[in-house]
Amino acid sequence: MIDDVIKFSAEPAGLYDPLRYMLDIGGKRIRPTLCLTAYGLYKPAAGTDVRKCAAALEVFHTFTLIHDDIMDRSPLRRGVPTVWKKWGEDTAILSGDVMLIEAYKLIMNAPESCRSAVVDLFSNTAAKVCEGQQYDMEFESKESVSMDEYNQMIGLKTAVLLACSATTGGILAGASNADCEALYRYGYELGMAFQVADDYLDAYGDEKVFGKPIGGDILNGKKSWLTIRALEKTDDRKGFIESFSRCCTTEEECRGKIAEVKAIYDALGVGDDARAEVVRYSDSAMAALQGLRVDTAPLRDFADKLVGRAK
Ligand code: IPE
Ligand code: IPE
Ligand code: MG
Ligand code: MG
Ligand code: MG
Repeated sequence: MIDDVIKFSAEPAGLYDPLRYMLDIGGKRIRPTLCLTAYGLYKPAAGTDVRKCAAALEVFHTFTLIHDDIMDRSPLRRGVPTVWKKWGEDTAILSGDVMLIEAYKLIMNAPESCRSAVVDLFSNTAAKVCEGQQYDMEFESKESVSMDEYNQMIGLKTAVLLACSATTGGILAGASNADCEALYRYGYELGMAFQVADDYLDAYGDEKVFGKPIGGDILNGKKSWLTIRALEKTDDRKGFIESFSRCCTTEEECRGKIAEVKAIYDALGVGDDARAEVVRYSDSAMAALQGLRVDTAPLRDFADKLVGRAK
């Protein structure tokens, strides 16, 4: 779909190998798929320039993952060791930096007639992702985080990039402003569903399928959707905070902590609540499509697949 338009210099291998590694190990390619699906609602098969713009979204996303894994101390991604684990933090920082630059080189391939709209949206989105990542980290040490604050944070770190992906497809295809706004709303709501599902899978997924360590959010003290909902529901706030903030060092202690927190989640039923929230967000994504005058079946199928995801 996009792999043929992504080429990275060979040298120095120490800088570019991690980029090739991250793209070769796969990933779901959700953002470029969303961009090309939105494009396809208006125009037939996308040419190379459009596919390069779609690739920019994946390359940018993958850059955020390289840096996110340093921030989250995560050892595993897409089922294999993360870049910082394999090559060290210094390489992960610099390879991430050059990957962001590669993303910009790709997005500049937007046709001149809409280049400034596409690049502006891309830049504004990229800044928002950084803002969201900063909130995500600040929330780790904040005692109480409301669901509204959480929603704002995931809106920034995750939803805006899906919104940008759908809208970029629309802009490149020459869709009207009204249609682009509806595509943005659709992508945003779907992005919210996507991050709540990610939080759910972080506790309840199957590591072999999900490709990331289960319980990482619990060990990092992340204010995930499950944590915030648990704090809303529990009548033993102190007990939950005690389990959730307990230090663990050995593998056995950490496994015990994850099991203990998950037992509280189970007793409160927050996993089911999360799944219901994913469906609610996905429904509002579908609702956003109602204003479009093209056949939106491909985007409805796309949302359906995302809601049912296990990875
Ligand atoms: C992971 O994104 C980061 C989040 C926004 C939750 P994906 O789940 O799309 O990761 P890959 O690209 O498929 O590995
Ligand atoms: C990801 O949030 C958001 C970005 C990378 C911008 P997470 O930290 O939850 O993503 P995973 O779970 O590591 O993929
Ligand atoms: Mg993170
Ligand atoms: Mg992470
Ligand atoms: Mg996660």
